[in-house]
Amino acid sequence: MSLDISTLRQRLQEALGAEFIVGDLLGEGGFAAVFRVREKRARRDVAVKVVDLGLTPSPSLATRFVREARTVARLEHPHIVPIYKVGGYQNEVLYIVMRCVDGPSLRQLLERKRRLSVRKAATIGRQVADALGYAHRYGVVHRDVKPDNILVDTGGHVLVTDFGIAKAAQQASSQLTTEGMVVGTPQYMSPEQATGESLDARSDIYSLGILLYQMLTGLAPFDGESAQSILMKQATANHAPIGDHRDDVPAALVGVVDRMLAKDPGERFQTAEEASRALVAAVPAASGETVRVRGGSPVMAVKALIGLVILAGAALVALTLLGKPARLAVSAPIPDGVVRALRRRGALTTGDVAQFVFAPAGAEDTTFLVVGRHNVAIVTPHRVRSYPRDGVRARYGAHVSRGLQFRLVLLLPQSQRDTVFRGLSFRDLSELVWRLERLLGTSLGGS
Ligand SMILES: Nc1ncnc2c1ncn2[C@@H]1O[C@H](COP(=O)(O)OP(=O)(O)OP(=O)(O)O)[C@@H](O)[C@H]1O
Ligand SMILES: [Mg+2]
Repeated sequence: MSLDISTLRQRLQEALGAEFIVGDLLGEGGFAAVFRVREKRARRDVAVKVVDLGLTPSPSLATRFVREARTVARLEHPHIVPIYKVGGYQNEVLYIVMRCVDGPSLRQLLERKRRLSVRKAATIGRQVADALGYAHRYGVVHRDVKPDNILVDTGGHVLVTDFGIAKAAQQASSQLTTEGMVVGTPQYMSPEQATGESLDARSDIYSLGILLYQMLTGLAPFDGESAQSILMKQATANHAPIGDHRDDVPAALVGVVDRMLAKDPGERFQTAEEASRALVAAVPAASGETVRVRGGSPVMAVKALIGLVILAGAALVALTLLGKPARLAVSAPIPDGVVRALRRRGALTTGDVAQFVFAPAGAEDTTFLVVGRHNVAIVTPHRVRSYPRDGVRARYGAHVSRGLQFRLVLLLPQSQRDTVFRGLSFRDLSELVWRLERLLGTSLGGS
């Protein structure tokens, strides 16, 4: 994001007007932030996705974004997150008001459980297939089917979000034109997406195959150290048989997933309805309307990681008058358990070695900074933002909000920046300054 969250929140508040009260940040993606917003008259909470157009807004692209989002807003299906309103504000921010789904995303479910039961995986897959089938009939291809875009509400219903939005938002947002940057999530891209060919609804069926494979085995079939290597595998490599990972998946279901993952779109199911029927034929329970998700905080996986380190005694710092000790502050050698957890979350790529891991106490204790030998990663409950370490500098800023607080911003090449923490205590700051000074080189001053 090129605007910081408080500026974005303020602009969103101005855009929505007094009828709405912008509340907590629900999550941040590659090009947007999602806030919980109170709609006063309707007395309900909605989720509002805001795309930040940065410093060089383009009126024509903004118009196009709003037009495309309005097409998506017409979709009405029990497994699609309903959109209530789409709008823009002075070509600076674009927003989508939608139902707030109070439940975990599939990404969070997979972080808790790693892999799901056959029944649950097939039921989620079937509900996603139904949502896709409906959208495809209206000419809308999702293009970004991945665990972050699949939400499960408190009643256990699966809801797919962000239909076609990624492409529109990417086109509208100036900051995404950085050369060489791969837009999208390579692990879920179809071969035709990976090679930049034209695509149709069958691309979503491939991505659904990846989702099913991951729900069943705990692993995405194609992974690697760089986006390019993953895309290459999507286009050319064969996936390891599901039977190599677990032996209780019925052969019929394995057959369905294999067919979805065919490299040639002509060999896949030709429609999502066909895929949905095949899932139910393979696992009759997949026709069920609800999936049971255990309660628990969406940030459980991250907290578990913190707990692990604290138990190991590696991060205990004595209390001083400067504020609570950091939840986690460990330098190399990093305990094995932490390294494994970081690798599982994709915060540490194969071949990289963690040198420093930090999470402050307080409101931001679910965000981690990981400095590896090759990459610097910011790990939130929702995603990992990773940058080559060369050329990354740390910068601090101070602001007054519920007392004196500090901000850590990463300065990236080409004048890009990414805010890591916003509410650091003085104690956090002093811990970070002396470590990052040596690892990254720092510049003190207002950010
Ligand atoms: N309707 C919603 N209700 C509740 N939470 C939501 C809703 N939509 C999104 N979120 C939360 O906000 C987070 C950020 O969403 P966003 O779509 O911006 O990013 P993403 O899907 O994680 O990644 P990408 O930018 O690649 O699409 C999601 O991971 C999800 O946890
Ligand atoms: Mg999303």
